[in-house]
Amino acid sequence: MNHTGTSVRNIILIGFMGCGKSTIGRELKRMMGFVWIDTDAEIEARAQCSITDIFAQIGEEGFRDMETQVLRDLIENKMQSTIISTGGGAVLREENRKLLRQLGYVVWLRAGVDTIYQRTKKNRTRPILQTDNPRTVIEDLLALREPIYRECAHLIIDVAGLNRTEISAGIVESARYFFAQHSE
Ligand code: S3P
Repeated sequence: MNHTGTSVRNIILIGFMGCGKSTIGRELKRMMGFVWIDTDAEIEARAQCSITDIFAQIGEEGFRDMETQVLRDLIENKMQSTIISTGGGAVLREENRKLLRQLGYVVWLRAGVDTIYQRTKKNRTRPILQTDNPRTVIEDLLALREPIYRECAHLIIDVAGLNRTEISAGIVESARYFFAQHSE
């Protein structure tokens, strides 16, 4: 039960850029028949522009405000049977961490620097990594964020060496157990 006294049956995916939150979100949707929401996509739809343009126009703090508002709205709308993929920085605000755990079962997809670097190096849609030294940025941010992901997560999955089916199957089993323990 969460603090509002209701049982929730949602799965929230957290973790650094490139750890597979969207890929696993889609796979969980397929396996469980849940609705799938990606908070970055929701922010882009609301702003009617890309994350890159949002960062350019209102800065990271403006983007973070929109991210918090999306999470508040998910609570407000009493989402159920939903998979929620979040942006890599969604856990940074304490309010967001509370909202995420209120929303349901929080899973951290943990990946190391090399995996993240390889998976993100050709991508141009992540403003935080558009620097001359993205590998160093990844190292520094990951060191800062790992304790925060850990604090927020109900479950930690090391994605290295596992394919999307294996990762998703592990999450489905653990989530069913969690939901059974937390049912009214
Ligand atoms: C961010 C991660 C991005 C997106 C934004 C900021 C971050 O999401 O929310 O570019 O601070 O780590 P992904 O983790 O889906 O790439």
